Amino acid sequence: MTVSEENYIELLKEVIIDIDNANRYQLTPYPSHRSNFLKRFVINTMINTLSKKELIITGINEHGVKQRESGQGWPINGYSMIGTKRLNNVQFCIESVIKNNVEGDFIETGVWRGGACILAKALFNILDKDRTIWVADSFEGLPKPNEELYPEDKGDDLYSIEQLRVSMEQVKQNFKRFNLFDDNVKFLKGWFKDTLKDAPIEKIAIARLDGDMYESTMDSLTNLYHKVSPGGFVIIDDYGVIEACKKAVHDFRDQNGITEELINIDDCGYYWQVAK
Ligand SMILES: C[S@@+](CC[C@H](N)C(=O)[O-])C[C@H]1O[C@@H](n2cnc3c(N)ncnc32)[C@H](O)[C@@H]1O
Repeated sequence: MTVSEENYIELLKEVIIDIDNANRYQLTPYPSHRSNFLKRFVINTMINTLSKKELIITGINEHGVKQRESGQGWPINGYSMIGTKRLNNVQFCIESVIKNNVEGDFIETGVWRGGACILAKALFNILDKDRTIWVADSFEGLPKPNEELYPEDKGDDLYSIEQLRVSMEQVKQNFKRFNLFDDNVKFLKGWFKDTLKDAPIEKIAIARLDGDMYESTMDSLTNLYHKVSPGGFVIIDDYGVIEACKKAVHDFRDQNGITEELINIDDCGYYWQVAK
């Protein structure tokens, strides 16, 4: 990349996580996995009320900028909640597949406002325009847990969080905002269990899984893993903080004899490189 291209990518990452407003209050993620019932109830009610009435609370949070590095707290504005370190990991994986001629596309399962895919598109526009960015989401938030099939998801209430429902039209608008919407950005709208199996994807260089739940992680791995090229990457956004997600990863790896090292990006995100 030229110096100007590098500067553009650095600036884009800052805009994607809305670093300028990081010292204002942000919404607390994953209350259901970290807090007791009362705290969970209060936080969920606060998040739902805020997003319904489109209010924004502001205030001083002196740790905000540091927190955005590791994606703690959801930005009120901004296009991704994953923070600088995990955005840098997206860049690292893309640069690696380009350098090593690893074939295939980029897919993210669980995109929220689309920021990680927007960064991927900007990088591939510079490095290899022919790669497709697959943007997979219900665009209606998370599914209710299917406790019979996936007992690991019992009690998960992320489906109830209004803030996590972002429409496909909004995500398309977000790509357009950066002039990054073209025919190589393709949307897979619906639940992963329905959309991924027959998606017309030939090869994958990078699969970024960010569906939080056991079911969502397992559906993504089951339907996509066999398409990941040797030397390609599998990124699991929530491995470090959501037990059910971690269990899905280990169940899948054990069932398929996958032994490649799991490398941590920050407390939350992990990835592995598929053997060459
Ligand atoms: C934590 S957010 C993703 C954050 C995003 N990667 C970013 O950069 O900010 C989780 C997303 O996964 C989606 N999702 C979770 N499980 C799903 C499923 N089984 N099918 C379809 N979408 C799902 C939700 O709609 C939500 O947009």
